[in-house]
Amino acid sequence: MKDLRVTVLSNAPIAAGVNQMTFSLPERVEGLRCGRFVNLSVGDGAHLLRRPIAICEYTDATVTICYQIKGAGTKLLSQKKAGDELTCVLPLGNGFVLREEERRVALVVGGVGVFPMISVLKEYAGTGRAFCSYIGFRNAASVCGEKAFRAESERVSLVTDDGSFGEKTNAVAAFFADFDKAKPDVILSCGPAPMLRALKAGLAERGVKVPCYVSLEERMGCGVGACLVCVCDLANGARARVCKDGPVFEIGEVTL
Ligand SMILES: Cc1cc2nc3c(=O)[nH]c(=O)nc-3n(C[C@H](O)[C@H](O)[C@H](O)COP(=O)(O)OP(=O)(O)OC[C@H]3O[C@@H](n4cnc5c(N)ncnc54)[C@H](O)[C@@H]3O)c2cc1C
Ligand code: FES
Repeated sequence: MKDLRVTVLSNAPIAAGVNQMTFSLPERVEGLRCGRFVNLSVGDGAHLLRRPIAICEYTDATVTICYQIKGAGTKLLSQKKAGDELTCVLPLGNGFVLREEERRVALVVGGVGVFPMISVLKEYAGTGRAFCSYIGFRNAASVCGEKAFRAESERVSLVTDDGSFGEKTNAVAAFFADFDKAKPDVILSCGPAPMLRALKAGLAERGVKVPCYVSLEERMGCGVGACLVCVCDLANGARARVCKDGPVFEIGEVTL
């Protein structure tokens, strides 16, 4: 993990209220991988807390993130221009790891959850795995990342809550409707808490024994396991830090 001064290379909208930013790294960083995240300053003394954002793509010299402009911090981030400097702690968290025998992979994704999943697709491209992707957005204007999913997936179901793009349904319903065809060895999911809860309930109702890993979003402070702002409850009664012990957990392990 490093705390670096990074330089914005580009920062532009890719969908309604969503920006993509690429920044350059001043040195090589070990351990960049899918599902891990960065904790990025927003470049303003009034907003001291850094913002956690998933790594979407990376090279030896650059990292690309995509973020929804939500509150004051991400609004400030959206105003950054090429050449501006930010401070960034990276890489953080555990990330997604596929076992060798996990060949058929179902991705159940909602909203800005697409960005960590794009990093999974890129990381495991060329490993002979079959990805089946079920992606839900609020409406057509929010759709983004489609190209990356279509390029790497055997099957893609892209749906919206209001039916303005694709079928009018949600990612979890689309996944279960296709479950018998997808035949996943493993399920990876990232999206809003209600979506993860629906996925967990659906797996339990159907008695599905396929391993399922979810990436959680919690409010964060330090991002490195020291402040306990991000703790979540585990099914066994213990507590875990989403930033350090996660953000990826086995779905049965966490209380959603
Ligand atoms: C591991 C992880 C990865 C994430 N990856 C992405 C991503 O790839 N793209 C994306 O758009 N968003 C992502 N988020 C959510 C993103 O961190 C928040 O949307 C962002 O921090 C909001 O900041 P704000 O100042 O604009 O909003 P405000 O609501 O003004 O934020 C106030 C405070 O709450 C925290 N906060 C608010 N919402 C969240 C949230 N959902 N999760 C965590 N902290 C929050 C902020 O960091 C800040 O400290 C991720 C969150 C986590 C924990
Ligand atoms: S954000 Fe500080 S312990 Fe997780």
